[in-house]
Amino acid sequence: MDTVARRPKKGEEVEVAVETIDRRGRALGETGGHPIALPRGLPGDNLRVRVTRRRRKELYGVPLEVLERGPDHVDARCAHAGSCGGCRFQDLAYEAQLELLRGHISESLAEALVPIAEVDPVIGCPEPWSYRNKMELSFGAIRWVEEDEPEGVDRDFALGFHAPGRFDRVLDVHECHLIFDGGIELVRTARTLAKELELTAWNQHTHEGCLRHLVLRHGFHTGETLAYLVTSRDGADVDEFLARFAELHPELTTLVHGVNSGVADVARASERRLLRGDGWITERLHGVEFRISPESFFQTNTLQAERLFEVVLEEACAEGAELVHDLYCGAGSISLLLARSAGHVRGFELSGEAVADAEANAHRNQISNVSFVAGDLAETIGEVSETPEVLVCDPPRAGMHDRVVERMIELAPPKVVYVSCNVHTAARDLGRLVQSGYELVRARPVDLFPHTPHVECVFTLERSES
Ligand SMILES: C[S@@+](CC[C@H](N)C(=O)[O-])C[C@H]1O[C@@H](n2cnc3c(N)ncnc32)[C@H](O)[C@@H]1O
Repeated sequence: MDTVARRPKKGEEVEVAVETIDRRGRALGETGGHPIALPRGLPGDNLRVRVTRRRRKELYGVPLEVLERGPDHVDARCAHAGSCGGCRFQDLAYEAQLELLRGHISESLAEALVPIAEVDPVIGCPEPWSYRNKMELSFGAIRWVEEDEPEGVDRDFALGFHAPGRFDRVLDVHECHLIFDGGIELVRTARTLAKELELTAWNQHTHEGCLRHLVLRHGFHTGETLAYLVTSRDGADVDEFLARFAELHPELTTLVHGVNSGVADVARASERRLLRGDGWITERLHGVEFRISPESFFQTNTLQAERLFEVVLEEACAEGAELVHDLYCGAGSISLLLARSAGHVRGFELSGEAVADAEANAHRNQISNVSFVAGDLAETIGEVSETPEVLVCDPPRAGMHDRVVERMIELAPPKVVYVSCNVHTAARDLGRLVQSGYELVRARPVDLFPHTPHVECVFTLERSES
């Protein structure tokens, strides 16, 4: 008979057998028969752990040492793996990552009471490293000091990513295996120049400091590269930074500078100036050319986005459809691909800049059977009166606003293709559609974000015959 040991106290060290990883990326395991959640750890691992918190049912802890590795535990590639958190799964074998993600989708659907026979296997990424075409880095005046760093290291400047759960601490990133080839060299130059010119980094507490964000974008099919520097002010020192950055990187096809003096920590600027090129990059997906501006949304994994869009096109099956709606259309990538087979595609998008890109993209590709509506869908959906034969939606991580779901149900398109990067909010929205007469007929996940707990999934719903 299994015996349950005494519940360990806060501060105690225990041995934990990790069973799985949940949708938030937490490792779940048990110690002496008591469930425990950890920020790190992989299935099958045996860990030495310090208990940090006791709640009614669950214990929380931090791993101190790996006593035994699980069967799919592999070596991490990145020196920052322990502190960055950007690639939570980089030490889990890739096939095991895909299985885990598939399980997360099934769990979310079951919790939201959305019936489905089976979630399809996740379509893996043939090249799961150096796949990101966009990186948004932060400058920070409070550097996150990593465990193995020597005493007395310089702490008042960092360029990288926010440390997990810390809005004010930035990890100084010297390597990254997700960024496009050549991207990390741009980061290194920016850091060196900032130090040479004694430009200060933004401080999240005092709202002082000059350098705020560096956004890098790259066209995998075109080779074009954009750098977008956001500072809190103008100045001769900023101009010198930009001039030297451009000179050191002739491969940059466009360089943009924006000023954001507000307190919100976003890589956005009300006014931008151009130092080189057109101010955007172009990328090609399935033969269609896209213009991508510094602040427009574009899928971050170009090669895998092509696979995602193949799945969307197959599921939408828009041949012969007179009207297709593409909600949350960004710069029009799905709209323009659908327009090849549908009579007319209408895209809806919040960002004016993305809509301007979408219109320019339609023009550039001589596609005339598309139109775009700019504005918050919670408002613009109210003006939609015609029912499309197919409705595609690809909302942000928060999912769809109630009013959008309600209006969708009233419009009752025969087919809905819901593209999601957050299975939790997707399952919530799908639950409402299923309660209102839709049936979920397929769930086809595509791994757009290897080594992270995120997964993209294409859900196809049809109105049940009744
Ligand atoms: C996941 S992206 C999808 C973009 C596009 N389908 C693609 O694949 O490139 C979500 C888009 O929704 C837009 N968005 C966010 N909130 C919105 C809202 N309330 N109304 C309309 N669009 C919104 C964002 O600007 C973003 O472009």
